[in-house]
Amino acid sequence: MRTKNTKRKGHSEDFFGTYRDFWWNESFLNLLAKRLQLNNHFQMLDVGCGQCHWSKLLSRYLGTPARICGVDNDKKWSKGEDEIRDFFGDAGIEFELKKGDAHELPYDDCQFDLVTCQTLLIHVQDPNQVIREMKRVLKPGGTILCVEPNNLVQSLTQSSVSMNDPIEEVLDHVRYALIFERGKKKLGLGDNSLGDLVPGFLSQAGFEHVEVRLSDKAIAMYPPYNTDEQVATMKQWQTGNTWSNGLFTDYDYFRVMGHESLEFYENYKRKYAHLGERMLRNIDANKYHSAGGAMMYVISGTKAL
Ligand SMILES: C[S@@+](CC[C@H](N)C(=O)[O-])C[C@H]1O[C@@H](n2cnc3c(N)ncnc32)[C@H](O)[C@@H]1O
Repeated sequence: MRTKNTKRKGHSEDFFGTYRDFWWNESFLNLLAKRLQLNNHFQMLDVGCGQCHWSKLLSRYLGTPARICGVDNDKKWSKGEDEIRDFFGDAGIEFELKKGDAHELPYDDCQFDLVTCQTLLIHVQDPNQVIREMKRVLKPGGTILCVEPNNLVQSLTQSSVSMNDPIEEVLDHVRYALIFERGKKKLGLGDNSLGDLVPGFLSQAGFEHVEVRLSDKAIAMYPPYNTDEQVATMKQWQTGNTWSNGLFTDYDYFRVMGHESLEFYENYKRKYAHLGERMLRNIDANKYHSAGGAMMYVISGTKAL
């Protein structure tokens, strides 16, 4: 049955713009598929699938006939969209979406050859429980593949505009990012830089052959900012930037960290209110440039036979 989405925003919806289609280099995905022998995997589960950006990318590497299941606890994403069903339908892939919590996956044991997630573990309350569930539904010999970042490093990325900012100012940005992430975690909404810990978690959960790589993607910005990925990224920058789940805002992340953090938040907002405008002015003048690196871990492991 075809469904229509309501106007309510889904989890991370502000981050589901076109720019998400530029998250990966095709040559890197080809290499990943070869390393993991994805063509020997037929049944895939994408946990916290959102709008299936990740499942769509992986789908063409699976063996045939392929079956892809997506699960998400957000009502909007678990309903799915016609465009997603059509995409898999046209590729001859059986596709099914379910609403469910990653801490308690709505699947029987040992169902899938490949269980994967992209930027899910950074949003869950208990990542170890989610990993245990991913393992439970994986067949013996099956592959787990987690793509999770360290987002803190972005607060140290330099640009032509910021490179000579005072050290105290740079430290303020790092401090802001740290309090933001700790507050989000304290509210049970996950650790935005959890990627650093996922290999150890997989090992503790009993996975074998744990391997860790970094995505080789960087979206560099330089004048005249006119490649497709630069245009999509600029658009994303204008859309806003928060990990709010609709119930909480940045303010709540600072408030939960105590009075001093809240004071820092208010001063920070006042002190650096001009930065957005400074960046736009420099882009307009073709003076802004930055290599646009990110730290996205690609972590895999095997469930013992
Ligand atoms: C940042 S989005 C990533 C979506 C998708 N994996 C992608 O990369 O495009 C995180 C997704 O995880 C889902 N999610 C968060 N917590 C979850 C949970 N406990 N159980 C299932 N899904 C969850 C959200 O609804 C959202 O769709």
